[in-house]
Amino acid sequence: MKKEDIKAVINEAKTDINSLDLESFRVKYIGRKGLISDFFSEFKNLSIEDKKELGPILNEAKTELNDLYIKAKESCTKDKKDFFDYTLKGNKIEVGSLNPATIVLRELCSVFKELGFQIIEGPEIENEYYNFDALNIPKDHPARDLWDTFWFPDNLKLIGEKDKGRCLLRTHTSPVQMRFMEKNLPPFNVIVPGRTFRYEATDARHEFQFHQLEGLMVSENINLSNFKIIIKEAMQKIFKGTRKMRFLPSYFPFVSPGLQVDIECFKCRGKDKKCPLCSGSGWIEVLGAGMVHPKLFEIAGYPKGKYQGFAFGIGVERFAMVKYLIDDTRLFNSTDLRFLKQFK
Ligand code: PHE
Repeated sequence: MKKEDIKAVINEAKTDINSLDLESFRVKYIGRKGLISDFFSEFKNLSIEDKKELGPILNEAKTELNDLYIKAKESCTKDKKDFFDYTLKGNKIEVGSLNPATIVLRELCSVFKELGFQIIEGPEIENEYYNFDALNIPKDHPARDLWDTFWFPDNLKLIGEKDKGRCLLRTHTSPVQMRFMEKNLPPFNVIVPGRTFRYEATDARHEFQFHQLEGLMVSENINLSNFKIIIKEAMQKIFKGTRKMRFLPSYFPFVSPGLQVDIECFKCRGKDKKCPLCSGSGWIEVLGAGMVHPKLFEIAGYPKGKYQGFAFGIGVERFAMVKYLIDDTRLFNSTDLRFLKQFK
């Protein structure tokens, strides 16, 4: 033990008093097993001369460190009744993360914004008129069965829309098409991000609550090739060419012709007849679309034959599944942190 060793410890303590919490400081320097105590154990074995030289220095060091500690401790109590050690480190607060469906929904919005679309919204509690009738799906039309619906009791109506039928949780974002067209004349390009609900049993592909992104582009000369280009461009931006897709004919009462877009099944690639995602077809449907049915323009009050356009409805969770290789749509609402933490 040398003079320098004791000095070095004092210097170190002068920095530590500002960075360590009080208790760690006490334990490290002046506690029963601290550095000062170590010096004193060594001291016992020194020669008489060394003891004479180092004794006072060591005692001084002990006092100095004690003073440092006591002063710091006092500053914690000053003006406060109780001792509060604000030098103690707090518990780390875990920062949450976005649900992958939200991540993809936001990404889709920014991709379509770049492509010149404007974002609009509509109500999650809808009425029968906008969810069905105005979309060319009259009462008793068998196509209503395509959308299993959560209905509200008959006597509940939306304020100001009492004549628009019973209330329901919207089964798709398409009702916002008519809400928008009633008030706006083409040309326009809009998207509608939002939550949708279906009264149906859940499985790996189906949830009763999910998100859609509706798109509507109308002017005097929009045709299906515009649709194809826009969708291909959006897919390219999101999947960077890593997913195969195909366009297929399909049926929705509010479009004619109707089509759907599928993306190849990442789980089985068409090899498993019992695949929960594609049932062995090798393809997963991610969106429905088509040319807006003339009946809708008529209902919106547009001049006959003047406008045409396309509409599409993207299944947001489906997109997220294909993007992140998630093989069960029920995971999105599961609140399972092991799942959610992967998207930090
Ligand atoms: N609304 C349809 C659905 O939820 C999807 C769709 C939107 C189809 C727009 C055509 C045009 O199934």
